[in-house]
Amino acid sequence: MVASVCLAAFAASFFLPQARCEETTGDNKTQAKIHYMLQCQGCHLANGTGTTTGVPDMTEYGALLLKQKQGRKFFIQVPGASNAALNNKQLAAVLNYIVDEILQADDVDDFTEQEIANSRGKPLGDVVAHRKSLISSLAEPQ
Ligand code: HEC
Repeated sequence: MVASVCLAAFAASFFLPQARCEETTGDNKTQAKIHYMLQCQGCHLANGTGTTTGVPDMTEYGALLLKQKQGRKFFIQVPGASNAALNNKQLAAVLNYIVDEILQADDVDDFTEQEIANSRGKPLGDVVAHRKSLISSLAEPQ
């Protein structure tokens, strides 16, 4: 079910004039959006709000987490991102798509290929506990 929804969205994106237009301007935003649709959206939904069955709403704390070094690492190291069939450049573009289009966070720095390379492939251990501790540290004075 999820796969067929993603594939339909993927196919449709080829016929959207706007998607074509972005592609010809040479940026990789359209590609990143397609990667998000195919590899993330099945769990995270198009607007990033996730599901009630354990996929967190990334719009809740995402913009705050991404202003911190540890939070940025977390976004790279979560299994769904880190293990995705995307190279470092493509994963950076998908995370930037999340920042720009889903979180709409203007004041968050872009992810670079190098930043992904530095943090990827270092498993987090207990992901849920790690997320909890990052979020509780947001409330502490920096
Ligand atoms: C099979 C379902 C699934 C897929 C596919 C998936 N994720 Fe996730 N994602 C999760 C779950 C579940 C969590 C909560 C942490 C955990 O248990 O891994 C999560 C957490 C996250 C978070 C942290 C959000 C927050 O607010 O704490 C980010 C960022 C994220 N995923 C990015 C991605 C990206 C990028 C992709 C696609 C390349 C992706 N995920 C694909 C299930 C998924």
